[in-house]
Amino acid sequence: MPKPMMEIDTDTLKEVEQLSKEIQKITQELKVYKERELEAFVIGDALYDGIYIIDKMGVVIAVNKVFTQITGIEEVEIIGQPIEFLSEKKIIKKPIGRMVLERKEKISVVATINNQKIVVTGNPIFDEEGNVVQVLIVMRDVTELVRLQEQLEQSEKITQKYMDELQYFRTKEIQQSELVGSSAGMIQLKELIIQVAQVDVTVLISGETGVGKEVVAREIHKNSLRKDAPYIKVNCAAIPESLLESELFGYERGAFTGAHNKEKLGLFEIANSGTILLDEIGEMPINLQSKLLRVLQEKEIRRLGGTKSIKLDVRVIAATNQKLEQQVAEGKFRQDLYYRLNVVPIQIPPLRSRKEDIPLLINLFIHKYNEKYNQIKYIELSAIELMQQYRWPGNVRELENLIEQMVVIIKEPAIGANNILKIIDNSDLLGDYFEKSDLTLKEAVDMVEKQVIEKAIKAYGSTHKAARALGVSQPTVVRKVRELGIKSK
Ligand SMILES: Nc1ncnc2c1ncn2[C@@H]1O[C@H](COP(=O)(O)OP(=O)(O)O)[C@@H](O)[C@H]1O
Ligand SMILES: [Mg+2]
Repeated sequence: MPKPMMEIDTDTLKEVEQLSKEIQKITQELKVYKERELEAFVIGDALYDGIYIIDKMGVVIAVNKVFTQITGIEEVEIIGQPIEFLSEKKIIKKPIGRMVLERKEKISVVATINNQKIVVTGNPIFDEEGNVVQVLIVMRDVTELVRLQEQLEQSEKITQKYMDELQYFRTKEIQQSELVGSSAGMIQLKELIIQVAQVDVTVLISGETGVGKEVVAREIHKNSLRKDAPYIKVNCAAIPESLLESELFGYERGAFTGAHNKEKLGLFEIANSGTILLDEIGEMPINLQSKLLRVLQEKEIRRLGGTKSIKLDVRVIAATNQKLEQQVAEGKFRQDLYYRLNVVPIQIPPLRSRKEDIPLLINLFIHKYNEKYNQIKYIELSAIELMQQYRWPGNVRELENLIEQMVVIIKEPAIGANNILKIIDNSDLLGDYFEKSDLTLKEAVDMVEKQVIEKAIKAYGSTHKAARALGVSQPTVVRKVRELGIKSK
């Protein structure tokens, strides 16, 4: 219940006392605030941000120098004006200070003021009861930041464009020629391929396993007039002898009893108008060789169990890793067929005789398998040099397999000589490795150790005896075998 006005009792006195104390306190605080405000604005003028303050009615009570620089409005013009003054002057569309007063929360917007990008942030200042008494508005010029951001985006776009182009050319190049190599042998080979591709001659490609015989055959087809017609590859070594004939020449309905009762197209027929590669021709059984010879001479086939002849227009490419001449001499290969196939011989040199191609191939395969396995591995120079000294009995295929294996198993991005040494057969290293390479001492020592221990195990037959011969303990040998990837069998 409210007390009557004139009744002065002790309670009222106490209240008055309390009130005057509070007033004193508030005045004191106000003074402190005023001083602080002053200090704040001296500091504020030294800042790069524009600052202004409005009171709870939305009237501008303070601005700093940067505010004037940003907006072009002098302090005297704006002090005492409602915040809407800024939108009337078309400085900003909607005064943020008013929004902060309404919503009682911090608000940030990006505005364009006099062609500058400004981030404007309104901070409400509350009293003890939680009412907004003032709003402090900070304007930060981010023109430069935005420009940098745009520049960054721009250069990212350009990078992406170049990446796309690079990718395009990369795939295009791979499509154009899968045959990588810049050694004299490879350049000659590429020229020969183009020459031979134009005419329909039979080609016999020979070379060790993994040198790229199939790649060359495909290149011939791709560069020929038949490039849009079928290209069929038959591996004579992979198909069982009993099936090879029907695979090649097909059969008529009823040629066999039981399951084979339907007719079947032979690979020669499928390849019609295109190219057929008879891979591993040296493995072809001698009775089939006669049949093949007839087909090549007559340019027609007859299916198994059939009577009618089918005209053939197929370019034949044969490939072998055998010395066919020798097989002829041994009676394993028909001489007449050999001459029939060997119209244009193409000999692919082994990888060890064209070391210049090794770095290019490594590069090709590292890209290929990094992409395939989503990795970022690279090969150290010492490893490349080591690989150039290796004998590569499995040629390019072996190199490709090794790189794939490295990309998958090595944890670090760098693939070093050490990693390679653990996998390849040391005795297959060509002599002059040490003079040329820049192996680290550890790599060189590992390499020698590996060779010595491997030889000892081979010579003595067990790690026990090898250890005794080398004057070390058996566990040492076993540890080295494990560490250096020594073949102990
Ligand atoms: N010059 C080369 N450029 C690119 N890749 C090659 C080259 N030679 C061989 N290869 C690759 O090596 C592997 C073995 O080649 P391939 O033609 O099958 O050998 P071959 O038939 O002589 O045994 C394939 O993966 C092939 O793509
Ligand atoms: Mg092959």
